[in-house]
Amino acid sequence: MAASDLLNEIDRKFYLSAEEFFPAHHRVALTYDDVTLATLHSDVLPRDTQLDVRLAEGLDLRIPIVSADMDTVTESRMAIAMALNGGLGLIHYNMPERDQLREVARVKNHVHGLIQEPIKVSPDQFIGDILELIEERRFSFATFPVVDATGRLLGLLPGHVVKPRYAKRRVAEALTPRSQVKTIHLSELQPDPIARADRFFTDHPGIHKLLVVDDEDRLHGLFTLSDIERITLERNALVKPARDSQFRLLCGAAISTPRLSDGSLDRDRILGHVSGLVERGLDVVAVSTAHGHSKGVGEAVRLIRNAFPRLPIIAGNVTSGAGVEFLADAGASIVKVGQGPGSICTTRVVAGVGIPQLTALYVASQAARKKGVTLLADGGITKSGDMVKALTLADGVICGGLFAGCAEAPGQIIEINGKLYKQYRGMGSHAAMKAGSAARYGHTLDTTRKVAAEGVEALKEVAGAIDTVLAQMVGGIQSGLGYLGAANLHQHRARARFIRVSPAGQREASPHDIIEVKATSSTSP
Ligand code: XMP
Repeated sequence: MAASDLLNEIDRKFYLSAEEFFPAHHRVALTYDDVTLATLHSDVLPRDTQLDVRLAEGLDLRIPIVSADMDTVTESRMAIAMALNGGLGLIHYNMPERDQLREVARVKNHVHGLIQEPIKVSPDQFIGDILELIEERRFSFATFPVVDATGRLLGLLPGHVVKPRYAKRRVAEALTPRSQVKTIHLSELQPDPIARADRFFTDHPGIHKLLVVDDEDRLHGLFTLSDIERITLERNALVKPARDSQFRLLCGAAISTPRLSDGSLDRDRILGHVSGLVERGLDVVAVSTAHGHSKGVGEAVRLIRNAFPRLPIIAGNVTSGAGVEFLADAGASIVKVGQGPGSICTTRVVAGVGIPQLTALYVASQAARKKGVTLLADGGITKSGDMVKALTLADGVICGGLFAGCAEAPGQIIEINGKLYKQYRGMGSHAAMKAGSAARYGHTLDTTRKVAAEGVEALKEVAGAIDTVLAQMVGGIQSGLGYLGAANLHQHRARARFIRVSPAGQREASPHDIIEVKATSSTSP
């Protein structure tokens, strides 16, 4: 049933489709809290809704959420966690190019459940040394593979001999010899390592560790029964990882667009680096700048498109239909929308430009439809309700601040007055520009001290694991779809009906007139 059939005559005067609502509000720029969505008759349960989205050919996500290419948000650990949850991480470029190549390789080579660098012991160590190691590093396990100096497997030291009474014995005397240790060859793991390991444990009752070796019997990793059981349980639950056609996790990376001394693009360096990323299996490259509707960004996108015809390219940021058309014509597959909405952004304060996010998304979506590109709503998302609204116009959302306090974000935990925080900074802050992102804001490294920063350095409260934060967000999006009777994101876009909210209406939307004993905002699960 079409959404219009679900509204009666009076409803239709108030609750408008995007095509009616935004042009009717063309004299004011609106963002998430300025509007709300009308509920519609539903026969869809939130848990049955599908959040899959195709951002580009070969780039299919299970959830429409991307972690920002910021140096306090996404490195390999975050990108792995995002892809395992069905989303995508964009690895930032404030690091030497070879380090970024390594970060991408880490994501693409990540085998979920396989401990790639297990703690190993050598045959001439004493059991007493191993006991000290366990105590010192607080290991919760006591079984260790035993290898020689070249990494070749000699056996397994079982937990039941790692006891103080055997402290003076050497590992060599206590190990289970190689001939009795079950292993699997590296090549047997594909296409589905977890299913393979699961089958192995079923076929070998009583064995809790499976070692992975190569042709030379060198150790390449270790599966444990408890990990595999947990992952198998998760697989049957809702979370589905985002993978490429070879079953590897999806990974994106942002690149800088360096210039030669005459001001022209350093084409060789850009293409050399993108080739390196593609060789490592990169799924999508992002040309991320503050002003995507600019000559240099157009040139960079065109350069990459010509050299890599099939590689999905994200480009941005823009807030106009002309900006979307410009980047689409240059070869972008996905366009980032957002100038100044970010929680650490000061672009609107400093430069006086930028458009509140929902109006920018509506305008951009008209051009995106015409050009056949997809859109990512980038910045300003603070709660799952914002995502529900963004997804009425965009194909996915990019979040920075929401994830910066998570364990998987880079950076140390800082304690201030008994509270735990992590650093979160704008890529246009002085510190981040000095670390490499100056070009993103149209500056060169040596001038950053003199230019106006367009971002601030901040702290985020520690937010636990990304799995928990994403589960909250996904649950919220699914609720939103359920209220609109939408079984998937496509239906969500078609059915959304908008109405403007007054300041009093905004106050009414959050908890009010109560004494809150426990914060239940969607960012603090
Ligand atoms: P949130 O709101 O998720 O926003 O924290 C993340 C997005 O903000 C953008 N970004 C910046 N924008 N100055 C800006 O004007 C900055 O220093 C800055 N750093 C990041 C970026 O698009 C990111 O995804």
